[in-house]
Amino acid sequence: MQTDLLRTSAGAERKKAVTRAVELLRKGELVALPTETVYGLAANALESIAVAKIFEAKERPRFDPLIVHLPNRERLERVVNVPAKHRQLVGRLTDKFWPGALTIVLPKRKIVPDIVTAGLDSVAVRLSAHPVFAEIVGELGEPLAAPSANRFGRISPTTAQHVLDELDGRIPLIVDSGPTEHGIESTIVAVQDGKIAILRRGPITHEQLSDFAEVVSVTGTRRISAPGQLPSHYAPTTPLRLIDNVEDFFPQKDQRVGLLAWESNGGSAAIRERFAAVRNLSKRQDLREAAAKLFRYLRELDALGLDLIVAERVPIDGLGAAILDRLARASHR
Ligand code: TXA
Ligand code: MG
Repeated sequence: MQTDLLRTSAGAERKKAVTRAVELLRKGELVALPTETVYGLAANALESIAVAKIFEAKERPRFDPLIVHLPNRERLERVVNVPAKHRQLVGRLTDKFWPGALTIVLPKRKIVPDIVTAGLDSVAVRLSAHPVFAEIVGELGEPLAAPSANRFGRISPTTAQHVLDELDGRIPLIVDSGPTEHGIESTIVAVQDGKIAILRRGPITHEQLSDFAEVVSVTGTRRISAPGQLPSHYAPTTPLRLIDNVEDFFPQKDQRVGLLAWESNGGSAAIRERFAAVRNLSKRQDLREAAAKLFRYLRELDALGLDLIVAERVPIDGLGAAILDRLARASHR
């Protein structure tokens, strides 16, 4: 894939860059965009396959929850449920710091695909103050999921050239608006029992936040450029086991087992009969589709009160590594 770089310095150039970015995002493609913190790798947050491409391009060997960037403040309650007891505090924080470098973690609504939140019930949201980002997400009219636009394990990009160094050939477009203002990622907070919990330090400081409520830090100071060390990842309560070949698996008597299928596609009718429930990650054996469905199917199977979930191994290439990582974590408990 050829990666285009479009600048936004002159009016006509900017218009062209914005139009192209919106067009690609509408088609479910990825676009690297400037924000006031660092460059982000954006996809339509409501399209799970588009979001899966983010993990693929970044070669993330695991799924991390992504930040959802809103087109405007009014869209907040389309993607999250603000708990009544926190409504006032959340309102005061967003009045003060939005648009800007503050990300708030809130209970998610169903409309947000599970791949965006790595299966969590909460979603991190922000409203970027960058004029070009704001124009693109505003014109698209849909929220954008966007992690920093670097490959896994690298530091966040603060110029379009950094993004090109990282992702050349993997994404169709980088919108170049020069170096970013802050150069570090946004501050991430959650509201817990009326307190503000800082999950990641960033441009909005502890001191600034303490004007609004008591502030507690839930993070060390060390890893500012390497987030993703945050506590909770969704974990199924049903035991899970990875298997190589579904044909060799026989449940014990009265054992209710769910199958998360890949290779066998759920297998023959005789094989399917062994299982209380079957979910196919991708009938086409497409890793993007599998990634997009993984968390939803894990949840669905987990909700059935089964004795065991068995998951067929997916190939380890590309997105497969992240899927296997997630399955391995789910099996180690
Ligand atoms: O400044 C920024 O925040 C940049 C720009 C592009 O907006 N984005 C960014 O995204 O730094 P990323 O993916 O590199 O870091 C997002 C981090 C995740 O690694 C995770 O630690 C945290 O946000 N996060 C996301 N959703 C969460 C959730 N529901 N609960 C707790 N933490 C969450
Ligand atoms: Mg990052």
